[in-house]
Parts: sequence; structure tokens; C-alpha cells
Amino acid sequence: MRIAVAGATGMVGHQLVQVLEAGGHETVAMSRSRGVDVVSGQGLATALTGAECIVDVLNAGTIDQAAATRFFTTAARNLHEAGDRAGVRRMVVLSILGVDRFTAGYLAAKADHEQAALSGPVPVHVLRAAQFHEFAAQNLEWGRQGEVAYVPWMRVQPVAAEEVARALADLASGPDPAAPISEIAGPREEELVDMATRLAARRGDPVRVEGIEDPADSNRDLVKAGALLPGPDAIIAGPTFDEWLAAT
Ligand SMILES: NC(=O)c1ccc[n+]([C@@H]2O[C@H](COP(=O)([O-])OP(=O)(O)OC[C@H]3O[C@@H](n4cnc5c(N)ncnc54)[C@H](OP(=O)(O)O)[C@@H]3O)[C@@H](O)[C@H]2O)c1
Repeated sequence: MRIAVAGATGMVGHQLVQVLEAGGHETVAMSRSRGVDVVSGQGLATALTGAECIVDVLNAGTIDQAAATRFFTTAARNLHEAGDRAGVRRMVVLSILGVDRFTAGYLAAKADHEQAALSGPVPVHVLRAAQFHEFAAQNLEWGRQGEVAYVPWMRVQPVAAEEVARALADLASGPDPAAPISEIAGPREEELVDMATRLAARRGDPVRVEGIEDPADSNRDLVKAGALLPGPDAIIAGPTFDEWLAAT
């Protein structure tokens, strides 16, 4: 099966390409560095020629709500238009657990992404994933100020990006999923600050991790209440954060 991966060079995208190719599928890598811009539309029609499925694992490169919303909704519209013209039969879109509950920030932009994607015309399945195990390392870097890394308190049930790639590959190449949206998470709830602390210790990184909370953040109470955690029907996949860390 010929499967076009939008965001093929990204953290999830490059693992998805490996999983798909190991499963005998032909992949088309779509990213600006591969000559395809999903926002301007450059190279899109050519890339989608003969593709049966598109997997959208794009990212906006910004957490600004307005800019991220513009990116995701434009990309979704362009993928639908070009995909429909090329005869694509299914689109699989990667989203984040709980985004439909958020009205602010990047998570709200992802909710708009889902809505734009689910508006068709190509039939879409949305996979909502928990934060990745790799998210701990990203936060350690984003929050680093000298000897301290400021990391937001966040209840998550993290999953390895590789497990998400496997689930996306199954959705792209398997039978039509029964429901339009499904969820995936790892086996154990964690606190992001603790994950970053354990990661730094494992790496021998002397950075001191400090948990932060922004009282002006309107998402704070939702995250505390567990809005980013999976529902009872979620796929639970792969290693715990500690097992994953021990293997890296
Ligand atoms: N991080 C997490 O914990 C987590 C959890 C759940 C869900 N997710 C979701 O997973 C998705 C993928 O995240 P990621 O961390 O794998 O992303 P990433 O590493 O930042 O990769 C983004 C990809 O998008 C491509 N891209 C960006 N702008 C483009 C454009 N205009 N045209 C074509 N390609 C473009 C990039 O390639 P070029 O730069 O070459 O264009 C790259 O291949 C995101 O939507 C995110 O919300 C993330």
C-alpha cells in the first residue's frame, strides 16, 4: 500500500516511516525538507499521486495558539483538497488526549486541527495520543535556565513515540476503524516534573529540575483534574517511562 506521511522527518514521522516500510508498505515522505509544503501546497499534488492513505503527523513549530491553529487548519484543508483529487481513501491524524476539553493554547489549536480534519471530504480517523516519553527531554531543554530547568507540573500517562508510530501504521493499513476517534497511552500515570528529574539523573545531567505552575494558565485546573489522561477504552501500549529510560 502506498502511504503518504505528512511530517515524515519529525519525531513520530521518521519512526512511522520505518514501521510502515518494515511492514512492506511504500511510503512517500512529505515535509519541507523533502520538497513538500503542506501550507503553501508546493509539491503536494505530485507527492500524493497514487497514495491510498495520508498520515498527518505534522507539527506547527510554535505553541502560539493563533499561529498553530492557522498552521494545522490550513494543512488539514490542503491535505483534504489534494487528497480528494488524488483519490486518497483514508486519512489518519495524530492528536493529543483530551484536547476537546481545552479552549486555550496549543491544546486548543489541536482541537481545531481535529475539527478541520474531521470535516472531510476524505474519511478521517483521529488517534489521540498521550504525551510521549520523549516529552520529558523536550521540557528539560525548553525550561533550562543555567543550572535549573523549570518544568510545568503535569499529570500525564506517557507513551513511547515508537508505540504511537505502530498504532498509526495499523490504522493506516488495517481495516476501517469502527469509531472516528481512538486513544493511546502508556501503562502508568506519571508527573512530568518527576519524569524530567529521573531523566536528568539517568543522563548524569547535574541540572536541578523545579516544578512550575502559571496561575494565569487557564488550562491548569483541567490538567490537574486529569484532562490529559486516557479514557477506559484507550489502547495501553509499550514500556513504562522507567522501562523506556532504562533501555535508552
Ligand atoms: N510531543 C508529544 O508529547 C506529543 C504527544 C501527542 C501528540 N503529539 C502530536 O504529534 C504530532 C507530531 O509531533 P512531532 O513532535 O513528531 O513533530 P516534529 O518532530 O516537530 O515534526 C514535525 C514535522 O512536520 C514537518 N512540517 C512542519 N511544517 C511543515 C510544512 N509547512 N509542510 C510540510 N511539512 C512540515 C516537519 O518537517 P520540515 O521541518 O522539514 O517541514 C517535520 O517532519 C504533533 O501534531 C503533536 O501535536 C505530540
